[in-house]
Amino acid sequence: MTARTAAWLRPAVLGLAILLVTIAHVRTPVASQAQHDILVRLYYLPIALGGLWFGLRGGLGAAGLITLVYLPHVVAVDHGAMTLGYLLEVPVFLVVGVLIGLNVDRQDHHRRGLEIQAETLARSHRELQEQTRLLLEKEAQLRRADRLSALGQLSAGLAHEIRNPLGAIKGAVEILQDDYAPGHPKAEFYAILLKEVERLNDVLTNFLTFARPVTPHLAPVDLRDVLTALEGLISGQARAHRVQIFTTFHAGPSRIMADATLVKQAFLNIMLNAVEAMPDGGDLAISTRLPAAGGPGARPEWAEVVFDDTGPGIQEEDVGRIFDPFFTTKVDGTGLGLAITHRIIENHRGTIRVMSQWGKGTTFVVTLPLEGAIRV
Ligand SMILES: Nc1ncnc2c1ncn2[C@@H]1O[C@H](COP(=O)(O)OP(=O)(O)O)[C@@H](O)[C@H]1O
Ligand SMILES: [Mg+2]
Repeated sequence: MTARTAAWLRPAVLGLAILLVTIAHVRTPVASQAQHDILVRLYYLPIALGGLWFGLRGGLGAAGLITLVYLPHVVAVDHGAMTLGYLLEVPVFLVVGVLIGLNVDRQDHHRRGLEIQAETLARSHRELQEQTRLLLEKEAQLRRADRLSALGQLSAGLAHEIRNPLGAIKGAVEILQDDYAPGHPKAEFYAILLKEVERLNDVLTNFLTFARPVTPHLAPVDLRDVLTALEGLISGQARAHRVQIFTTFHAGPSRIMADATLVKQAFLNIMLNAVEAMPDGGDLAISTRLPAAGGPGARPEWAEVVFDDTGPGIQEEDVGRIFDPFFTTKVDGTGLGLAITHRIIENHRGTIRVMSQWGKGTTFVVTLPLEGAIRV
């Protein structure tokens, strides 16, 4: 039943009930007292229903209407000794109508009060949840910033001190290496020395990038070009891990305002992690897309790059920490890759988020502003 049908159905039922009882009443001979008594009592039915359905308005309305049709009949027709009794029924109609109606109104009022309270409570709960989320987010940012500044001071000083002697060691090893022919057993040790010096140098470079972040030099860059170049760059390593890389690009605008070198570094860190996470092979799907813009015809302002791997995923308790500097689960990891990536993306006014379930792979989504996007 629709609300509209219900709106006229109930008054109609009340009117009909009153009409039927009244017709029966008028047509009953005065002598049939028992029938009269029953019919008078039947009037309480519409009065009660009126009160239940429409509160005081309905109870009093039904009682009033009944009084209007009942009173003339009692007065006009001589009921003999019963007249006074029938007349006294009228105030009882009214009192019953008022009492039922008032009671129902009071209950309605109470229920509405409870509903408002429940709604307010639900709203407060939602607000509290949102505040808690923001607070946790801020706390994570603060923790990251804290580590960044401590790390910045420490590494800037140390890295410089270590880099120069490292350069000297590398030069010396290269000279010493010449003393042995490539097949000589000792040549192998020099190769190890050089490789490890290179590795130390890489770690230092990472620290320095972190300690003194470069200001991005923005220029229009096509996301497709960046990702295609990276796919080529990483293909050797991917092949060694039996990782297949798939790329899918959206049609439409894909130029972003970015520092190409930095964005490449940010993406590369994500891709290397994915490859490293799948030592026994797997898939890395890289795709770009335009998130739904605000309304039809609106120009998209953002482009999203999605990196989706079929690796082992990230443990639930680690998901919130992977962007923290020094967080690593690898024996030889520095834990700086994603921290650097996070900062680069933030400096480009973009966002990065991760979705991962242990055993079900990992997805990173990077959002970057498109060239010419209007933002406040
Ligand atoms: N695609 C991925 N799959 C599983 N774990 C990942 C992935 N990407 C990042 N991680 C986790 O995040 C950690 C931090 O990554 P990162 O900052 O690049 O440091 P590192 O690679 O030196 O460990 C990794 O040690 C790994 O545990
Ligand atoms: Mg890494």
